[in-house]
Amino acid sequence: MNPFSPLKAAAFRPLSLMSPNPWVGHLPFAYWVIGATRPPIFVELGTHTGNSYFAFCQSVKELQLPTQCYAIDTWQGDSHTGQYDDNIFNAVNTHNQMYYGEFSHLLRMTFDDALTQFDNSTINLLHIDGLHTYEAVKHDFETWLPKLAPNAIVLFHDIVIRDHGFGVWQFWEELQTRYNANLSFLHSKGLGVICIGKPINPNSANWLGAPQLNIQEVYEYFTALGDRQLEVFNLRQDELKLRLNHEVSALSKELEDRDAELSELRQWINSWKLLIARGIKLFINRLIGMNS
Ligand SMILES: C[S@@+](CC[C@H](N)C(=O)[O-])C[C@H]1O[C@@H](n2cnc3c(N)ncnc32)[C@H](O)[C@@H]1O
Repeated sequence: MNPFSPLKAAAFRPLSLMSPNPWVGHLPFAYWVIGATRPPIFVELGTHTGNSYFAFCQSVKELQLPTQCYAIDTWQGDSHTGQYDDNIFNAVNTHNQMYYGEFSHLLRMTFDDALTQFDNSTINLLHIDGLHTYEAVKHDFETWLPKLAPNAIVLFHDIVIRDHGFGVWQFWEELQTRYNANLSFLHSKGLGVICIGKPINPNSANWLGAPQLNIQEVYEYFTALGDRQLEVFNLRQDELKLRLNHEVSALSKELEDRDAELSELRQWINSWKLLIARGIKLFINRLIGMNS
């Protein structure tokens, strides 16, 4: 096992980053929560293109942990992501086999159907990121609760979005009153973190595997790191757009130049056609004059 330090989260660089990107601001926390809690079993409900899932897997690999990881998704989409085709699953599957095949398992099925694959009280870290309606997230949490180990940690994405039928925020308010060991990140659409056990001091990050820190310090550190990750990501996107714009302008200029050359060529051909027609006419007139 590699030694773990919370500071290393600042240096986390994702191997795989795809669109859509709402999870980007939480990548350093994914590294940290894996390293700090060393979960024997990690499960994700809702993986899509794999931004969150592969950050957890990459962390397990870099820290050389014995964690088994499970991604559960139909890889067909839902009413918030929209339906998508098999290309997404194929890309996730290829990346998974290439880098994490030894400890990471993709379960292509519904969350409900996957329940039978896990014994009760065995999952140490659960990330819930499926359909984001109030009813769906409540159902996902309550059906998976019996599968959680006594001091398991559960993450909920999108706790701050309140439009388009998103209702995680509402369920999150209920959870905060039920579980006093909780933490709400507000960046990158929000990430809620709870410990389902009853830690003696919920304000210490003891329940997050870091007794030397308090919850407020964890919050501030990862909010700042998450903002930096997002800034870097957006900057890279802007650079990419700029580069594409330059390429498009260069191609447009080339096309304009070709059009101009083509129209010059057409003019030149037309003037030659005119000259030849006049020559032929002159020649015929002369021929008629000679014969008359
Ligand atoms: C918001 S996306 C996941 C985003 C992902 N965690 C990331 O980092 O980008 C939600 C995913 O959950 C899946 N999903 C929603 N409800 C599901 C269910 N009941 N069973 C299986 N998959 C489901 C959808 O197919 C979709 O790919």
